[in-house]
Amino acid sequence: MQKEIKINVKDCVKIFKNNDVNTVAIRKLKCKFYPGEISIIMGPSGSGKTTFLNILGGLDLCDSGLINYRNQDITKFSEEELEKYRFNIGFLFQFFNLIEELTAAENIALPMIMMKKPRKYIKSRVNELLDQVGLIERAKHKPSQLSGGEQQRIAYCVAIANNPDILLCDEPTGELDTQSTLNILNLLHSQIKENPNISIIVVTHDPIFKQIADRLYYIKDGTIIHEMNKDEITQDLKDRNLDHKSFGDQDFSKKMETLIDKESIVEDLLELQNLLKEKLKNLTS
Ligand SMILES: Nc1ncnc2c1ncn2[C@@H]1O[C@H](COP(=O)(O)OP(=O)(O)O)[C@@H](O)[C@H]1O
Ligand SMILES: [Mg+2]
Repeated sequence: MQKEIKINVKDCVKIFKNNDVNTVAIRKLKCKFYPGEISIIMGPSGSGKTTFLNILGGLDLCDSGLINYRNQDITKFSEEELEKYRFNIGFLFQFFNLIEELTAAENIALPMIMMKKPRKYIKSRVNELLDQVGLIERAKHKPSQLSGGEQQRIAYCVAIANNPDILLCDEPTGELDTQSTLNILNLLHSQIKENPNISIIVVTHDPIFKQIADRLYYIKDGTIIHEMNKDEITQDLKDRNLDHKSFGDQDFSKKMETLIDKESIVEDLLELQNLLKEKLKNLTS
């Protein structure tokens, strides 16, 4: 049976125009996202990941191409339609994005107040979410009184408070330690069970996300250069000898830590190499 497609992106192009400089951030990008799936997007910095998520979330517009969401092309939406579309989306960013003046509970209530949900419902939903992320006793804390890991769990509650149809996460664990990363990983994984039609899209550098990914897109220079389905991801993890099932396993966490280190070192070295190449080119020209 053919799988239902939730978002179908065709030949998406985004060019930033600043004075005389044009930066092609997204070029002819094609990909598909499905209900009940976690898709991860990986790629070097500057490859267009954030730009693409912003376009998917209706926060930015592309210059050409189609983005079909439930058979409607969002690139043709009016400002008003886009605003409505954004109600379907939850956002989770790298830097927690909580409002400092509000308590954890008030931060979580805010998106529901904006949707004019009844008071009683909001109260019980806030408690339910705080309980889910294990932070009931932190309800009255301000963000600055919480650790980074706790802030991100509250930000997760904010993102899913209105039961979004699409959850967009931009490097959600970029600032977190290993244990807090595993907490977010488990929350995203359990969200699919609870909300089987949601599509979760995670931009990340962290290979640990392959553990929960149903689909993986590699993006480079604004376009998808490689795609893996669940079977291919599982095989890839087996080949790397990382096919553990439990995220809480100490051994597994250790292995992951070394892998994260190794991959980020390789990435740093590659970036350094490119920088040196550029410098050499400038010197010789
Ligand atoms: N507002 C902007 N104006 C001009 N160029 C931008 C803007 N935002 C991003 N870019 C450029 O677009 C490219 C992709 O950026 P981005 O989507 O942030 O990459 P990533 O998230 O993968 O690191 C980069 O070359 C970046 O410099
Ligand atoms: Mg980015």
